[in-house]
Parts: sequence; structure tokens; C-alpha cells
Amino acid sequence: MAPLEIMNDLFFIERGYLNGNHFVYRSEDPVLIDTGYISDFDLTADLIRSLGVSITDVQLIITTHCHSDHVGGNKIIQEQSGCDIALHRFGKHFMDTKDDWATWWKYFGQEADFFGPTKALEDSDIISIGPHKFEIMHTPGHASDGIVLYNRKEKLLISSDTLWEYDLAAINTRVEGTTAVYSLDESLEKLATLPVSIVYPGHGKPFKDFKGALKRSRKKIAGYLSNREEVGNDLLKKITIYTLLLKRSVPEASFFEMLTRANWFRETVDLYFDGDYGRKYKELIGGFINRGVIKQEGGKLYTTVKP
Ligand SMILES: [Fe+2]
Repeated sequence: MAPLEIMNDLFFIERGYLNGNHFVYRSEDPVLIDTGYISDFDLTADLIRSLGVSITDVQLIITTHCHSDHVGGNKIIQEQSGCDIALHRFGKHFMDTKDDWATWWKYFGQEADFFGPTKALEDSDIISIGPHKFEIMHTPGHASDGIVLYNRKEKLLISSDTLWEYDLAAINTRVEGTTAVYSLDESLEKLATLPVSIVYPGHGKPFKDFKGALKRSRKKIAGYLSNREEVGNDLLKKITIYTLLLKRSVPEASFFEMLTRANWFRETVDLYFDGDYGRKYKELIGGFINRGVIKQEGGKLYTTVKP
């Protein structure tokens, strides 16, 4: 999708699932919000340049959380521009202490580089992007360092992975703790107090039905709380697709073995499904193939989900 101007000189760029959506503020002092996944940096840089913004001129990157699909360009852009990087103080701590567990990178075998945060954000801080003022809200649950940005004048919410239109972002209780589901619910409760006329999510298209999205998300959370297997099923689905996007395609004959070597797969099946790896694998892949989300071709599996 072509960049969409959502406020004067502030552009929204819709990407896919491997790369989070990101934003470019075009000016003499350009600002970026999030920077995609590391392996697709060339495309991210092209999209930024297509707006007339030079990477070397970037003044500030605002990071909504340190997951690999949102920070992929941070290190290289900072090296080339010397820009500031602002993020929630928990995320700053993860970078300062080189904690690739808290960021999920290690657990899910994702690629990412540590970068140098220069500014720690707190709940209720105000951050300026040119003339546009945004309130920062700390919204843990999906990521402990998750923030959203809210412009009160336009009732515009940059919701990152805290609120999507039709789905919840992955809940990873192994890293975030067993109360992560409650944290996300509390974060959504906090968002519900805001008047919002448009939402720009971390993945997917912009949407206007803020109340509907909140309702759907909280219903899903209620489902998680009444049946914990749903947390496990959703995590397996999301990370399996993410793994296919990372690898682009995998040999069908060895994918099961590849997954059973991954800590996240074994642990999730252990935690939620008594270690029945074979049954879960068949269910997962079979379900995806039936829905056309995974395709088989020449002995390989790949996903039709947009990277
Ligand atoms: Fe994301």
C-alpha cells in the first residue's frame, strides 16, 4: 500500500505480518515510528525515501515496543543518522542490558540488532512529532514495554500491537508471565476511556470501529480466561506463520522436526497440550492448509500471509 498521509506530513505505511506497519514524519527533522523487520530493511528504506526523507537526516525514531518486527531498522538508521531513539523505559532497559529474552528474539529465533536508546518514555508523557502532539500510554500485555500514541485533537490512535481490528496479538506467557492476559485486558480498559475516531494498528489496515475492536479483543481475552488452551492454540498458530515468513519456505518433510527442535514449540505444547507434538502439528498445519493460509508446492510449505 502506498504511504497514506494521516496528518500534515505524517505518513502511515501499511506492511504485513513479518514487518509491522510504520510511520514517517516528513520535515527537515524527520521522525519515524517503528522500522519493520531486519531482513526487509531495504524495502523499509525505499518506502521512507519514496517520501523524500533521507535516512541520514532522521532525527528521532519512536519505538512502540522492542519486538523484532518493529525495530528491524533501528540500529542501521541510528548508525547512519545519529538519531535519538525513544521508547518505554522497560524497552530502554532491555536494550541497555542486551536482554534478548524479554524482547522475545531469542525465544522465537528471530533476527534483530540491539540499538542505543536515548530517551525513556513513561506513561502520560507527551511527545511532539513536528507540530503534532501525542500522549504516550503504557499498554503492557502483548509486550511489557508496549506503548500506544494518542493525538487528542484528531482523536487519532496509533495502537501498535495493543489493539488490532479483528484479532489479538500473540500472548506469550512463557516470557511475559501468566498474568499477561490480565495486563492486556487492563491496557484495553485504559484505552476504552479515550474518544477515538481512527486507529492505525501495528498490523492491518486503519479502522474506525474502535469500540467494536475493543469489544472483539476483550471477548477474545474472556475466551482465553475461560479456556487456557486457546492461549496456546493462538500462540502456536501465530508463531508457526511467523516462522514460515522468516524462512520464506520450508521443506515439508522436515518442518515437524524443525518445530520440535524449537523451544517455543515444545514448551507451548507441553504447557497447554501435555506434550502431544505430533497431534498439534497435524492439527495446526492441516487447519492452515484447509484455509489456504499455508500452501504446499514442490515438497515445500509456504504461507500466503503478507510479509
Ligand atoms: Fe508486531
